[in-house]
Amino acid sequence: MNAFTSLPSFEFDDKILMQGAEISRKLDQLRLENFPPDARKTLRHFSVAEVAHYLGVTPSNLKRLYLDGKGPTPTTMSGNRKYYTAQQMMELRFFLDRTGKTEAKRYVPHRKQGDKLQVVAVVNFKGGSGKTTTAAHLGQHLALTGHRVLLVDLDPQASLSALHGFQPELDRNPSLYDALRYDDDRKPISDIILPTNFPGLDIVPANLELQEYEYDTPLAMQQSGSEGKRFFTRFGKALEEVDSCYDVVVVDCPPQLGYLTLTALTAATSVLITVHPQMLDLMSMSQFLLMLGNITKTIKTAGANVRMDWLRYLITRFEPSDIPQVQMLGFMQSMLAEEILKSQMVKTTAISDAGLTKRTLYELDRSNFTRETYDRAIECMDAVNFEIQGLIHRAWGRL
Ligand SMILES: Nc1ncnc2c1ncn2[C@@H]1O[C@H](COP(=O)(O)OP(=O)(O)OP(=O)(O)O)[C@@H](O)[C@H]1O
Ligand SMILES: [Mg+2]
Repeated sequence: MNAFTSLPSFEFDDKILMQGAEISRKLDQLRLENFPPDARKTLRHFSVAEVAHYLGVTPSNLKRLYLDGKGPTPTTMSGNRKYYTAQQMMELRFFLDRTGKTEAKRYVPHRKQGDKLQVVAVVNFKGGSGKTTTAAHLGQHLALTGHRVLLVDLDPQASLSALHGFQPELDRNPSLYDALRYDDDRKPISDIILPTNFPGLDIVPANLELQEYEYDTPLAMQQSGSEGKRFFTRFGKALEEVDSCYDVVVVDCPPQLGYLTLTALTAATSVLITVHPQMLDLMSMSQFLLMLGNITKTIKTAGANVRMDWLRYLITRFEPSDIPQVQMLGFMQSMLAEEILKSQMVKTTAISDAGLTKRTLYELDRSNFTRETYDRAIECMDAVNFEIQGLIHRAWGRL
């Protein structure tokens, strides 16, 4: 054969269909091995140090409680170490508030009458900027610190659902599409909320059907223009039904600026933009901001309300030893000042490793990693999440 013989052409559709089917079959096999269809997620126990940290008490105070036989009884594990379940952690909060000497109820941080339900939208149209990782850890952290949280997976790829043990390929999960759709099959949101393995944390999972919303919405807008068909009131209206059940809703948006993302933003009370500190990511983000700003102006003229309590940029997968990234961070800090979160989320093998078995840092056991890797990852994630929690509490007028 001569070196310049042209390559044989092939039917593109046949080829990708074949390859897609083969990859999907192999992935299903892997998934079945790692996570059988009937497997339900459980949650590990938490050490006295962890419980004290999330409750905001000293470990010695906690020790005194169980030595005096007060509050839930921890389980004793090897080395006489005491561990609590997440459910017991929640019970401890109620116990401490009930038995506290002061009137101030500070261990159960539920919102008070008049405090608005906080809806945090995690957005950026750049794929892989850390939206899902951020949404999952924020939701779980808020639940571990005593809030009543609803996670909403708005990405048809359903990564947030998968992290919580829902397998869109195998389970017939509902999705927010069921509560947003424009026809008579629309359901109340309470019908599509599922519990997770974290007490205090529920989820509206996602599936591919969510994509239909992107096609249905322009069609609905062309029709009568009646109030009922406005896309920008749908999510907020759906949430009204469960408003009293939650303190915070965290929405994981898809990596595109379509109707799903816009719908999330029109129900949001605050926005978290995740960004990896690299030139291409920043360029993409600036385009995202410009497009989003212009679209928002247009939908405002149609009557949408898009006022936020706060907006923050979260630096993700940050490598402090990478000089260009440090420079990019400095550049962003100089421009965005107040609005960049003070804590950055560092790149860590603990997150990527945990992701392989569809888990988060909060589900991992310290023994899975070197102490240094785990502690650094969790410290960093907690710092980010406590900072966001502070913004949520400030929106409720707490200092
Ligand atoms: N801090 C981190 N350290 C290491 N890996 C991370 C970190 N944050 C995210 N990742 C990994 O980067 C990948 C992309 O993250 P993630 O899925 O959260 O991004 P995303 O913005 O939701 O992506 P998409 O736009 O596709 O929805 C995942 O494999 C995740 O495990
Ligand atoms: Mg995602």
